[in-house]
Amino acid sequence: MQYGQVLDDKQLAPSALPPARGPLTNALFDLLTRAADRPRTVLPRIDEGDDDPLFGDDSALALYALYELHYRGFGAVDVTWEWQPDLLSWRRDLEQAVVRRLQDEVGPLPQQPQIPDALHALMDDADGPSLSGFLQERGTADQFREMAMHRSIYQLKEADPHTWTIPRLAGYPKAAAVEIQADEYGDGVARDMHQNLFGLTMTELGLDPSYHAYLPLVPGWTLASVNIVSLFSLHRRWLGAAVGHLALFEMTSVEPMGASAAALRRLGFGADARHFYSVHVVADAHHQHVAADKLAKGLVNQQPELAHDVLFGGAAVMALETEAARRMIELWERDRSSLLGDPALS
Ligand SMILES: [Fe+2]
Ligand SMILES: [Fe+2]
Repeated sequence: MQYGQVLDDKQLAPSALPPARGPLTNALFDLLTRAADRPRTVLPRIDEGDDDPLFGDDSALALYALYELHYRGFGAVDVTWEWQPDLLSWRRDLEQAVVRRLQDEVGPLPQQPQIPDALHALMDDADGPSLSGFLQERGTADQFREMAMHRSIYQLKEADPHTWTIPRLAGYPKAAAVEIQADEYGDGVARDMHQNLFGLTMTELGLDPSYHAYLPLVPGWTLASVNIVSLFSLHRRWLGAAVGHLALFEMTSVEPMGASAAALRRLGFGADARHFYSVHVVADAHHQHVAADKLAKGLVNQQPELAHDVLFGGAAVMALETEAARRMIELWERDRSSLLGDPALS
């Protein structure tokens, strides 16, 4: 694949359900393979067992699959499961447990923060390890590939979660969100959609760019960061957090994207492999200001009571990205893979 080409329909199509990982996904996936018109469905209580609702492999995959019903869905799964009431009620229990865990991870935040200053302060205070910095300095090509397999879960649907916020916004912040999202979708040119550019990078790395190709290999702590953006964006109650999430995402992008491009150059990969990262260095130099000053601040100007949630959304990104980087680097330093299975066996 070269720059200019677009992932083919087979690569873009919904995937099969991944293998189950425990009691929650066993029961859920068993249900999803049936018709959705069953009168009552029985799913296990989500607090049974000792899986962590936020980072646990079983819980995070269950929530990821439930959210996927709102995106492309899964090939053989009846589309009407998307709004099946028993499933939604079970998801609500799981979401409540996830939010409690997320609040633990993030810790206390000021009730009436100044936005965007408080978002900038989050970035200034960050002291976690840098994954892109590690890759730039001393990562191997296989470690870069591994990072891309983790990221593929989000990047191959990049922008889609935040798009749910657009109909919930109005006026200036809505226009700011549309400005950012239009760029994310390549301004309507399929070749330039960031989702497609990540597929190009994956191809150049010798990886499979098909949607969900690596879902079976990705641990709960990676799925958690995709789950929280779906959670924030699908609930109007979490509109502030969804906006804070997008703002911090854009505000913290330029440096890691530049470091990733530098890592690829050091490892001998060409311009097509680096294109996704180079585009972000330029685009996010602008997006960071739109996101902080027009979107996040614009929303808080309209609805000051959302300031705390905006900061919470930003802090959640920081907490989960730091956790993922810490786990990945720690495993690599012990010469271990950060994936659930050996990719060669998949
Ligand atoms: Fe992007
Ligand atoms: Fe961006």
